[in-house]
Amino acid sequence: MRERERERERDIKHLVKEEQYQKTKSIVEKFGEPGGTGELLQEKLLEKSINTHNWVYDYWLDDMYLNQRLALPVNSNPAMVFPKQDFRDHKDSLKFAAHLITGVLEYKKHIDTRALPVDFSRGQLAGTPLCMKQYYRLFNTYRLPGLKRDTLVIHETGSTEQEHIIVACKNQFFVMDLVVKEKTLKEMDILSQLEKMVKMAENTEERQPPFGLLTSDGRTEWAQTRDVLIKDSVNRESLAVIEKCLCVVCLDDPSGMEVGDTSRALLMLHGGGHEKMGANRWYDKPMQFVVGEDGVCGTVCEHSPFEGIVLVACTEYLMKFMTGSPSKIGRATSVSELPAPRRLLWKTTPHIQGLLKASAERLQRLVRDLDMDVHKFEVYGKEFIKKQKMSPDAYIQVSLQLAFYRCNGRLVSTYESASIRRFHEGRVDNIRSATPETLAFVKAMTDEKTSLSDSEKIKRLWDAINAQTNSTIAAITGMGIDNHLLGLREISQEIHMEMPEIFTDETYVASNQFILSTSQVPTTVEMFCCYGPVVPNGYGCCYNPQADHLLFSVTSFHGSTETSSAVFIKALDEGLVEMRDLCKTSNKPQSNAAAASKAVEKSQGAGSKPPSTPQKTLK
Ligand code: COA
Repeated sequence: MRERERERERDIKHLVKEEQYQKTKSIVEKFGEPGGTGELLQEKLLEKSINTHNWVYDYWLDDMYLNQRLALPVNSNPAMVFPKQDFRDHKDSLKFAAHLITGVLEYKKHIDTRALPVDFSRGQLAGTPLCMKQYYRLFNTYRLPGLKRDTLVIHETGSTEQEHIIVACKNQFFVMDLVVKEKTLKEMDILSQLEKMVKMAENTEERQPPFGLLTSDGRTEWAQTRDVLIKDSVNRESLAVIEKCLCVVCLDDPSGMEVGDTSRALLMLHGGGHEKMGANRWYDKPMQFVVGEDGVCGTVCEHSPFEGIVLVACTEYLMKFMTGSPSKIGRATSVSELPAPRRLLWKTTPHIQGLLKASAERLQRLVRDLDMDVHKFEVYGKEFIKKQKMSPDAYIQVSLQLAFYRCNGRLVSTYESASIRRFHEGRVDNIRSATPETLAFVKAMTDEKTSLSDSEKIKRLWDAINAQTNSTIAAITGMGIDNHLLGLREISQEIHMEMPEIFTDETYVASNQFILSTSQVPTTVEMFCCYGPVVPNGYGCCYNPQADHLLFSVTSFHGSTETSSAVFIKALDEGLVEMRDLCKTSNKPQSNAAAASKAVEKSQGAGSKPPSTPQKTLK
């Protein structure tokens, strides 16, 4: 416990005012006293760890997702943007969609037969097998809205109830049964069903109100509306069909926007609002593919069942399937007499119309507020960083801190997701990147730029990189601080203890407001991930390091006077160039990366020490 206190101290001392720090210090010391509250909670957590696969999983899922009340688009659902497609005509885009759905069915077969190869960790501490559970939740899950807490519904894998997908077109929702007369549809059947759906969607007389909009609303608002909807059997049936589907495929009309990286990312995150494609979505469904007639394609995902890394593995499979396996249209035998696709019907009332209008307005506000900038930094990529014998991820994190400091003159509580899939049911913990060493470095590159020598600057850069690498290794080996504190906090509530002061203290509250929320989502196929900020005055920054360039998707809100995605990107660009120049002139790459790893092991004891609360590793 004492050691954890010291780590926490390291994390926050330079981020809060001295007076507040002293107050927090005494609260933490009291919490950690022998025989005190901290010890009691730790014992309870240890008991829990004996009886569960993963002591933090449920707490984490509730805290990170299910208890959150903000709307899913932008605030929670990440998107993966596929390369822009060059469709010659509308039919071409439907062929693409049919090919994609065929790929999904192939991938699903691997999941159902448990034939996916086990992933192994790469990068830091490479070679450990990783928990595969998230893959088994890609297609069989649904986030059901609740008045206070949502529920992650999990259908049995391979269940016969789940033999359909939902196709959205012109804000209409259609059911595509994938098994007809005991035969799975072939690609040409899928295409023919899609064509029929498009025709049906064009029939304005039968058009239904844009109910998908409701899923874009705040979670409590959507849960309240859903309670109204299910009073009617027609709505109840439509909802039941959607909630059990494998995935949603959204056939989008051209958005009319100029098709660049940023606009494509926006269309994935929020669909451009109700006037564009924002209602042609069902945001609760974890796997939702978008195929736009104008070539804008990707996925937008409900995040609670899986992480971006698993999403990348699935979508890369699909991209490779689509480029590597020729479309089977025209060659396969078709299932004869396909039934007409079913359009989902909705019963509406003036009250429901009012709710739809309110949801549309709230989505529009979110759309107007999002400030997004997707930027390809082309001066160098991760190979240059590796040549410096530095961890590319640590280097990029330090560059993000430098950019933030340049823009704001201070560092803030920062989140970097660290995979803990080395542990059974492991999801992520947090690498707190705003370290004191990084603060010293960013000051050297700004406030103290002219007064410090290059050798001092490079020394500080190395200190920052090593500190960041240490924190990364700690987090991925189950030694992160955030999950542990969350566990202590939540177990105090489970045993009906009054909330300990450590968790109501201003420092704790502020240290969980992630003004900078960052994540590495690397891809081996041309595509990129993006997501929104997690606080109103914050940035979301997703990056994809490639051998010769670095791709950044930066988001913030126009409503905040403290942020601007374009200004942040400019500062990032400048900092990355200055860091390269510093390395070129002053870095003497240490003889090997092992030096850094050894330093890490020495300071953290990683690999030799069990996590503070045991987690079950994979066998
Ligand atoms: N010298 C030279 N090369 C180095 C080095 C050094 N000092 N340190 C690392 N490298 C190399 C690695 O061997 C690796 O090589 P590879 O590209 O051949 O695999 C590469 O640089 C990348 O390593 P690094 O930059 O240190 O990062 P990492 O791959 O270990 O990733 C995290 C670090 C934290 C991003 C990763 O552990 C993680 O948790 N990823 C998941 C994040 C996540 O969940 N995102 C989605 C959230 S929705």
